Amino acid sequence: MNSVLILGATSDIAEAIAHVYAAKGEDVILAARNCSRLERVKTDMEIRFGKSPELVEFDAENTDSHTDFYKNLPSRPHIVVCVFGYLGDNEKALHDFSEASRIIQVNYTGAVSALNIAAVDMMQKGSGTIIGISSVAGERGRQSNFHYGSAKAGFTAYLSGLRNYLFHKGVHVLTVKPGFVKTKMTAEMPLNPKLTATPQQIARDVVNAAEKKKNVLYSLWMWKYIMAIIRNIPEGIFKKMKL
Ligand SMILES: NC(=O)c1ccc[n+]([C@@H]2O[C@H](COP(=O)([O-])OP(=O)(O)OC[C@H]3O[C@@H](n4cnc5c(N)ncnc54)[C@H](OP(=O)(O)O)[C@@H]3O)[C@@H](O)[C@H]2O)c1
Repeated sequence: MNSVLILGATSDIAEAIAHVYAAKGEDVILAARNCSRLERVKTDMEIRFGKSPELVEFDAENTDSHTDFYKNLPSRPHIVVCVFGYLGDNEKALHDFSEASRIIQVNYTGAVSALNIAAVDMMQKGSGTIIGISSVAGERGRQSNFHYGSAKAGFTAYLSGLRNYLFHKGVHVLTVKPGFVKTKMTAEMPLNPKLTATPQQIARDVVNAAEKKKNVLYSLWMWKYIMAIIRNIPEGIFKKMKL
């Protein structure tokens, strides 16, 4: 039986994506650290969609567990959505490598580990979709979040190469680059409301883009143009800016 596997399911964006897929009648597997925190989401989805999602323990940093995690899933996913991420504290990461390492482990190493396993399974079947939630932060290193941004840059490049590799095996890969999204991750940040999406907007865009087999999605859409400007600011000017 096919299912949709959501990695990092306690995320606000993940919950919204789970709702969109469940509304389409898909069987959803929610994977997260400490699944007991997903009981509320599970009950809510049972009431809304009349179907119960499966809950599975998953820790992105525990890469040694990923093969068994995937092997023991209640069903083989035809769609895998990698949502987990860790913004971390950029200043702390500069002085304390354990924080820098965690940012890299969660956003890059853990994602590569989990998605490689899904990729091999899907290419053996000759079909499937992998969705990676990266970030516009990966497009240019900024003083405020260069540890997170560089890990996301690595993840974006990985997804691009994986898409190219899996295209020849019948598997589609979608890279998602959200701009600002109103979630737990950004709760303390003053975000411009005109440039900020809700998790529900991101979820609708993601599922639409995956169905249309788009390669790269910016959400909200204007971030495509904002990032084109940011990428093109000459380095001599960019380094003097406080971004
Ligand atoms: N919010 C934004 O403005 C924004 C912008 C661009 C990209 N993004 C990306 O969007 C994705 C979702 O973020 P969000 O905004 O929805 O924030 P969020 O609600 O804070 O979600 C982050 C998720 O990552 C999970 N996670 C962290 N470390 C993990 C680990 N070792 N193993 C498994 N899961 C782990 C967290 O799980 P716990 O609950 O266990 O901590 C949490 O569910 C992330 O990849 C983020 O980088 C967000």
